[in-house]
Amino acid sequence: MLNFGIIGCGNIASVHAETLNQMPDAKLRACCDIETSVGENFAARYQCQFYQYYADLLIDERIDAVVIATPHFLHHEMSLAALAANKHVLCEKPMAIKLEDAREINAAVQKSKQIYHVCYQNRFNLAFVKLKKMLNENSFGSLHGVNCSLTWHRDNNYYSANTWRGKWATEGGGVLINQAIHSLDAICWLIGKPQRIKGTILSSLLSELIEVEDAAIATAVLENGPPIVISASNNYSTNPSPAIDFDFEGAAIRLTNESLIINEQEIVLDEPKATIAGKSYWGQGHPRLIRTFVNEITGQTDELIPYLPRLDAIDSLALVCGIYQSHQTNQWVELV
Ligand SMILES: NC(=O)c1ccc[n+]([C@@H]2O[C@H](COP(=O)([O-])OP(=O)(O)OC[C@H]3O[C@@H](n4cnc5c(N)ncnc54)[C@H](O)[C@@H]3O)[C@@H](O)[C@H]2O)c1
Repeated sequence: MLNFGIIGCGNIASVHAETLNQMPDAKLRACCDIETSVGENFAARYQCQFYQYYADLLIDERIDAVVIATPHFLHHEMSLAALAANKHVLCEKPMAIKLEDAREINAAVQKSKQIYHVCYQNRFNLAFVKLKKMLNENSFGSLHGVNCSLTWHRDNNYYSANTWRGKWATEGGGVLINQAIHSLDAICWLIGKPQRIKGTILSSLLSELIEVEDAAIATAVLENGPPIVISASNNYSTNPSPAIDFDFEGAAIRLTNESLIINEQEIVLDEPKATIAGKSYWGQGHPRLIRTFVNEITGQTDELIPYLPRLDAIDSLALVCGIYQSHQTNQWVELV
């Protein structure tokens, strides 16, 4: 039995707790939240031990693995502390808010015997898994370009419910680091990390409310030339599934969280879609990612283990930070 602790008992924590408690070989044993009433309610709901301070959860010897589900600025120190305490780590996205902090985590992971992954659950959407397999088989010829677009709705209610959002110091950015980062992860994972990027950010409808960007546009370039066009906005009226279009020599491909369309033909996916806890725009991937994380730790065979976002989780953060830097300098940023 793999015993888990969750650090941060907010919105996303229930998706992790409910998934873990449905698994025969994993169990949520402890939770931690700096807000005692939030943590105690969560502990009562999931029948686990409550800690106010994460250092106390990390010295609980019953705990084998932790989920980090706290505000972005805490991911760096909590990941390092959890690895140092010999816990396996599943950290919610992003890895960190600064690239040098993410590099420090990767260095610690490489020295550690523990398993560390970042929760880019969309990789485990059936459409993403199917396309990854097809790309591995090199089915479509050369790539001419990629177009990635996210238009979502985030408003006063969203930002005022959790005050760490909307601030550079605690969220680390806006629509790019919080929402579009999933699509940027998908691009890097599916076709490779771009070589350089140039982009700009702006704040428009939400500028009275937040100090970070509510929209962004950028162009990235892969080593062998194809452009990747990236656009993101939190100013739309609703939350359609983000779309990534791939213009291959032999195929026009549209990937969304739920569908894979190749040359206007929708590909039939292998399993029916399950209903899971949480908001629909979080997608269906969390249970499959968590299952795969547990399988890797417990030594089960699972063909999805190589898809888990490990050291390469830094690539999407490099794109985000590259756009922020490019906005400041109005120059291309090399993504070394
Ligand atoms: N993968 C996804 O699709 C997805 C979806 C939603 C959120 N997230 C990520 O999950 C993380 C949490 O987001 P959320 O929406 O659940 O936020 P939230 O604000 O609802 O929850 C965060 C919790 O962390 C607690 N916390 C803050 N400081 C703490 C500390 N020092 N020690 C312990 N607890 C502390 C807060 O009190 C709060 O309850 C973020 O990284 C976010 O980007 C991911």
